[in-house]
Amino acid sequence: MKALVLSGGEGSRLRPITHTNAKQLIPVANKPILFHALEAIRDAGIVETGLVVGATADEIRAAVGDGSAWGLRVTYIPQEAPLGLAHAVLTAREFVAGQPFVMYLGDNVLLDGITRFVEEFERHRPSAQIFLARVPEPERFGVAMLEGDRVVRLVEKPKEPISDLALVGVYLFDDTILEAAATLKPSWRGELEITEAIQHLIDTGRTVRAQMVEGWWKDTGRPEDLLEANRMMLSVQEPRIEGEVDAASSLSGNVVVDRGAKVIRSEILGPAVIGEGTAVEDSVIGPDASVYFGCTVSGSRVEDSIVMEGCTIAGVRGLRGSILGKHVEVRHAQADDGMHRLIVGDQSHIEVD
Ligand code: G1P
Repeated sequence: MKALVLSGGEGSRLRPITHTNAKQLIPVANKPILFHALEAIRDAGIVETGLVVGATADEIRAAVGDGSAWGLRVTYIPQEAPLGLAHAVLTAREFVAGQPFVMYLGDNVLLDGITRFVEEFERHRPSAQIFLARVPEPERFGVAMLEGDRVVRLVEKPKEPISDLALVGVYLFDDTILEAAATLKPSWRGELEITEAIQHLIDTGRTVRAQMVEGWWKDTGRPEDLLEANRMMLSVQEPRIEGEVDAASSLSGNVVVDRGAKVIRSEILGPAVIGEGTAVEDSVIGPDASVYFGCTVSGSRVEDSIVMEGCTIAGVRGLRGSILGKHVEVRHAQADDGMHRLIVGDQSHIEVD
């Protein structure tokens, strides 16, 4: 069994963060989303992993290397343009031919990993095994219609509701998916849809099994999804205090203070994580806050937020539901006339009082 991880997507709904960062490397609970996927693959006992990469290939290569940090052997497979999930599979044809593989969308986060899915596939050996979850907005996903436990129809982003069972971004295939993908024409969104390739398997009499995902799952396509994934992954982190916490500070709940971090006269309300070398002074952090490495937070309050590396937050009464990219500065306004000073990139989102 091999793994194929798709990390070519551009993350247009996560701009401005994705103007300068690969969406799969955005940290959730202080760990890039993609690393959660690589851990799940390792835990399922898979070694050979193909990483389909696009415009952000260099950044992903720099972060993942040869995969040995996870005990994986990673092969990079460049996709010339984000032309769809089935296009990615065709691009990886040589890598996946001849044996079954798990395809994992690099922006999906699954709390329970994929080990059980892989075991289920091995037990039944269908042509394809898909995973479903009930969602409130099925029009944002591929959805499945079932008759009993048989999949009868799959539709990508249906305009009319046909079911609330969304396709989760983890699939298991044998290599008949290559033949199916080769028959496709671009969809209305100009992509070769894996959903249609699986429908083709159904139409040609192949076995397609569906299984409900029991644990929590998220496609981190939008800012609110990232924040939800952050809350979820923080809630299951292993508490660990390796940095310095002074006597005037207090920690409560599930807290990680990483190596070289300093917490001074502050309150950390778990779930929360303070990254390596980050300094927190006279502040309240959490609940549900991830502050990545090399940040400085002073005289501020931060909850339900993702703060990426090298940020400075000073004298800010409160940040909530916020995502700060790398090296962002947020400071209390110096002007006493209520005016704000902003130097922000394209497509930023700011709310002021
Ligand atoms: C893709 C698939 C969709 C699936 C979703 C899961 O959507 O096309 O069928 O439900 O991933 O994350 P996209 O991320 O391309 O919108």
